[in-house]
Amino acid sequence: MQAWKDYQDQHQQRFLDELFDLLRIPSVSANSAHNKDTAKCAEAVRVSLLEAGCDLVEICPTAGHPIVFGQKIIDPNLPTVLTYGHYDVQPADPLELWTSGPFEPVLKDGKIYARGACDDKGQMFMHVKALEVMTKTNSLPCNLKFIIEGEEEVGSNNLGKFLDDNKDRLKADIVLVSDTSMISMEHPSIETGLRGLAYMEVEVVGPNRDLHSGVYGGAVANPLTILSKMIASLHDQNNRITVEGFYGDVVDLTDDERKALNLAPFNLQEYKDELGVKEDWGEQGYTALERTGVRPTLEVNGMWGGYIGEGAKTVLPSKANAKISMRLVPNQDSHKIADLFTTHFNKIAPDCVTVKVTEHHGGEPVVTPTNSVAYQAAEKAIETTFGKKPIPTRGGGSIPIISLFEKTLGLKTVLMGFGLDNDNIHSPNEKYDVFNFYKGIETIPHFHHHFAAMSKA
Ligand code: BES
Ligand code: MN
Ligand code: MN
Repeated sequence: MQAWKDYQDQHQQRFLDELFDLLRIPSVSANSAHNKDTAKCAEAVRVSLLEAGCDLVEICPTAGHPIVFGQKIIDPNLPTVLTYGHYDVQPADPLELWTSGPFEPVLKDGKIYARGACDDKGQMFMHVKALEVMTKTNSLPCNLKFIIEGEEEVGSNNLGKFLDDNKDRLKADIVLVSDTSMISMEHPSIETGLRGLAYMEVEVVGPNRDLHSGVYGGAVANPLTILSKMIASLHDQNNRITVEGFYGDVVDLTDDERKALNLAPFNLQEYKDELGVKEDWGEQGYTALERTGVRPTLEVNGMWGGYIGEGAKTVLPSKANAKISMRLVPNQDSHKIADLFTTHFNKIAPDCVTVKVTEHHGGEPVVTPTNSVAYQAAEKAIETTFGKKPIPTRGGGSIPIISLFEKTLGLKTVLMGFGLDNDNIHSPNEKYDVFNFYKGIETIPHFHHHFAAMSKA
């Protein structure tokens, strides 16, 4: 064990430099102008896995961005851990709010600032370096497989097919993922669930062309006004979602489960202060931890229409649009919720407009077991390197492929994430603490070690 730590200490500056090289590649999956960059990033990941000790690494083309598959098989009789991560990142805009370039990583006050620093290049790369530590110190206790994809931030549309087509090759005992958060370094935790997602786009159409708002205004419905009213009606006075049937499949927590969840350290005043809001908000009868962890939500992600350029333009727009997403919890189904939303949205539209609803990517909610060998291995690993047993929490984010690991490959997942909720993922000035990066590299080999030992027993 000391050998791992010594090796890591000797090479830690290089580990950081290599991460910086990865962060310099603007692998924005949502923007096709960056397709060369995503390909370049996949290649960089391939090389890094090979150099870290994989005996086979392949770039697997898909209808979208490539998947990097790697493996190191030391003994087919030993357990196999399948590590999943993603090398693609969210778009960096709004650019003007970054204090340094999103793809020019800098180290400031012990934090790495760059798009992808935490989500997920920084966290994914910890696994590559942990592999290097274990191979270079001859201490790999199990077989390792890697799936590092380039489409997580756009819904992992092609990874499902890859799982279907490669069931044999992907045989493993557990999936290990670092793409979630901890409460803090003082309060290490493991997320034991992720929310699902149903993502919709709506269009409200009024007159057949933009109109002069003086000549026609007052006699023709304004689609922006109508859309605003429709959107406002999606929550009731208790901030519950009004889409018929929306809560039908939601599994309520037992009182004991709710109590346990709310035992996690959380200070509402600090939460509000940190976010600059005077009051929190949400579904009546639930705490903030419940609202983000175990309750479903509906958010408007963007809304547009009419004139938003400089100065004033007196226009009654022909169309108004919005992107609306819903976070789902067990046992909600993303397609069913998308259908319920579509029906509801059509139903509440007044006759003065026509509406069009389309469904974007979705994903199913997951709950990961806390009584499994793999969870206990993660618990022990964190306890070893943090000196404290991690607290189980429920995360609010989504990783759509996780439910398919179980459905297609029959594999459970452990979400051993090292990010922090205030790492600004998807926001300007995304950061990742160097401390967390090194702690992750240090902790991962302990997971493999415990998992291999406990699986044998
Ligand atoms: N790593 C995040 C998900 C996440 C973040 C889970 C923090 C738990 C804590 C992932 O990259 C992500 O952003 N997922 C998207 C969904 C995807 C379909 C765009 C999300 O949650 O919005
Ligand atoms: Mn991620
Ligand atoms: Mn993300």
